[in-house]
Amino acid sequence: MTTHHIALIPGDGIGTEVLPPARRVLDAVSCRHGFGLSYTSYDDWSCARYLREGAMMPEDGLDRLRDQDAILLGAVGHPDVPDHVSLWGLLIPIRRTFRQYVNLRPIRVFEGVESPVRGAVPGAVDLVVVRENTEGEYSEAGGRRNRGFPEELAVQEAVFTRAGVTRVVDYAFGLAAGRSGRLTSATKSNGIVHTLPFWDELVAECATGHPRVAWDQEHIDALAAKLVLDPARYDVIVASNLFGDILSDLAAAVAGSIGIAPAANLNPEREFPSMFEPVHGSAPDIAGLGVANPLGAIWSAALMLDHLGHREAADDITRAFASVLATTDVRTPDLGGTAGTADFTDELLRLL
Ligand code: NAI
Ligand code: MG
Repeated sequence: MTTHHIALIPGDGIGTEVLPPARRVLDAVSCRHGFGLSYTSYDDWSCARYLREGAMMPEDGLDRLRDQDAILLGAVGHPDVPDHVSLWGLLIPIRRTFRQYVNLRPIRVFEGVESPVRGAVPGAVDLVVVRENTEGEYSEAGGRRNRGFPEELAVQEAVFTRAGVTRVVDYAFGLAAGRSGRLTSATKSNGIVHTLPFWDELVAECATGHPRVAWDQEHIDALAAKLVLDPARYDVIVASNLFGDILSDLAAAVAGSIGIAPAANLNPEREFPSMFEPVHGSAPDIAGLGVANPLGAIWSAALMLDHLGHREAADDITRAFASVLATTDVRTPDLGGTAGTADFTDELLRLL
């Protein structure tokens, strides 16, 4: 029997509440589909550790992850730790060291979920945001000067490379070719005069290698508006790091709640482990209440199984949660229900 070694990093806040449900679901399907999962849990890689010891993870943290088959992460972030410290102390080093340059974020409006958007009827909205995950606007290039003086300033450089843009855009075209054959590139090459015209050129170059994919580009501001007004028109959207981050939260809200959105941080070449995590953060406002929606984490776990070569097991999971939503009224408060995290998970396991 194949056994996959999974690193679990629950993190902070509701991250620690949504990973155990994901693990229960994983154990249920792995057993049925005849493969094993063994876990190493890094419970204290978190803001609590940072507050105690000054680092989110141990110095050799990345080395400990290197030989795992995949990483399943909850969320990091705590009100007592600046967000850039928690993000750059754990998540971003993992994404960059392991060359997880594709951040795949599928969004669907499920039967039984009421979208806040009138046009977003169940079944009609089924899209994927492909976010560039290792460069772009999220860069360390820049600095602060003259802190506290009237001439204080901050400069932040965005970094777009030919290799970095091409590989993620090429991945997105490949994905679109296997879906409906439509791709939209998010840009802002009217206002941002160096990096995004370069992005547009590289997208056009990549397109020549995928003649069967119909593609266009839209400025991010107009794209955001259209994603609300007519979400069903999109299939695959490829975007830079920042644009993709924002668009995927927006798309998740269109689908009913950020609590259901999953993400896969992929190293497509499989030289390193890929990382799977819900799109949402640690949600300090509801942490500890037992009402966090575990669906984002559970769907992320399904993406992980798909990546590990277990498509059928992954489909079992997505079918089971779609059926909880479509056939029962068991759902967490973010989706208008009264169920707790555990109630929802129990119901899902029952239908599984
Ligand atoms: P957030 O995603 O944690 O919360 C935004 C809103 O959505 C909150 O009202 C929250 O209650 C709700 N929400 C999120 N997930 C939910 C779920 N599963 N079920 C029900 N409701 C849910 O984003 P926010 O408030 O901007 O950030 C909170 C902390 O999380 C910050 O420290 C931030 O840096 C961190 N963060 C971490 C991320 C990560 O680890 N990947 C991603 C985004 C934020
Ligand atoms: Mg985000």
